[in-house]
Amino acid sequence: MTASRDIACRVRGFGAYTPVDVLTNFDLEKFVETTDEWITTRTGIRQRHRLAEGQNASDAAAEAARLALADAGMEPGEITHVINATCTPDYLCPNTACLVEAKLGIVGAMAFDFNAACSGYVYGLSMARAIVAAQPEARVLLTATEALTRRLNWADRTTCVLFGDGAGASVITADGQGALLEDVLCASDGNLGGLLTIGGGTHTPYAKGDPVGDDFFVQMNGRDVFKHAVRNMAAISQDVLARNGLTIDDVALLIPHQANLRIIEAVGDRLGIPADRVFVNLHEVGNTSAASVPLAIADARAKGVLRPGMRALLATFGGGFTWGAALLHF
Ligand SMILES: CC(C)(COP(=O)(O)OP(=O)(O)OC[C@H]1O[C@@H](n2cnc3c(N)ncnc32)[C@H](O)[C@@H]1OP(=O)(O)O)[C@@H](O)C(=O)NCCC(=O)NCCS
Repeated sequence: MTASRDIACRVRGFGAYTPVDVLTNFDLEKFVETTDEWITTRTGIRQRHRLAEGQNASDAAAEAARLALADAGMEPGEITHVINATCTPDYLCPNTACLVEAKLGIVGAMAFDFNAACSGYVYGLSMARAIVAAQPEARVLLTATEALTRRLNWADRTTCVLFGDGAGASVITADGQGALLEDVLCASDGNLGGLLTIGGGTHTPYAKGDPVGDDFFVQMNGRDVFKHAVRNMAAISQDVLARNGLTIDDVALLIPHQANLRIIEAVGDRLGIPADRVFVNLHEVGNTSAASVPLAIADARAKGVLRPGMRALLATFGGGFTWGAALLHF
């Protein structure tokens, strides 16, 4: 067993934020060649939230962080590390974590972004666990925030109907309070990265005044992503259970990445967990990538579906490809 697994790493506070502006499938029907019926039957999504003009991923993260800090009963000044998961940062530089830090009035924390796409929150739990293992007095603010509607090609109906904006946040410490992070496992396969991309990086060397191309936006081979998502989310969930001597019967609630209801159902079937123990809120928010799992946790707690004493299994999959699973005992 590694040193980091011996430290009792806990998630002490949770917060979530979705922008006020809501785009329903019926709204999309007005400017995309699609129907509410197609979107709901193929994905389960009914609406998604969209950041207001001038509101960015860092603003959403800061809102979620304030709620997580309040939930933890902590002040911003107590935070030692701000780590932020996003694939839609405000800028390439400065990093979004520094922007969040400034918005919260934190100075002097270690602050950085990382990109594991939709697996960002679970990857973040793994990093936070490593930080508190190395530095037990650390108080880590993990934010996971996305401004995906800023990178959607509204002429591409195969992708633009799927995604939404939002943010989640957690405070992670080793001070004995909060939900116990029993274990977390992360994995990836970079060979498959081309199946789900968002441009805007230096790969495409735009000159001043150049129009952006299709590669600037989300591009995806949906069918292939679907297959890999089901296979890997189920497999890594089984792995994390097995290495802790647990079975799916020991899990009170599966909280999967909210990408597509059919993916979630297929993962649930492979794991053999009844549908009433699988949390779903994608009909309200769409696919919010890194923010998806913390938004679902906050929603499940608010709805009373996730309660103290329950063990949750988190399972994620995203561009990269990346995937992960975590066991959180509330
Ligand atoms: C994207 C996804 C919903 C498409 O569902 P699908 O059943 O595979 O649908 P297909 O891509 O085979 O398309 C079927 C038809 O619907 C059409 N279609 C695609 N998007 C449409 C839309 N928004 N509205 C109406 N029709 C649409 C296609 O053009 C195609 O038409 P054709 O048969 O005339 O060519 C599905 O592949 C998926 O969810 N994949 C995973 C995506 C995901 O969640 N990614 C993020 C993971 S982190």
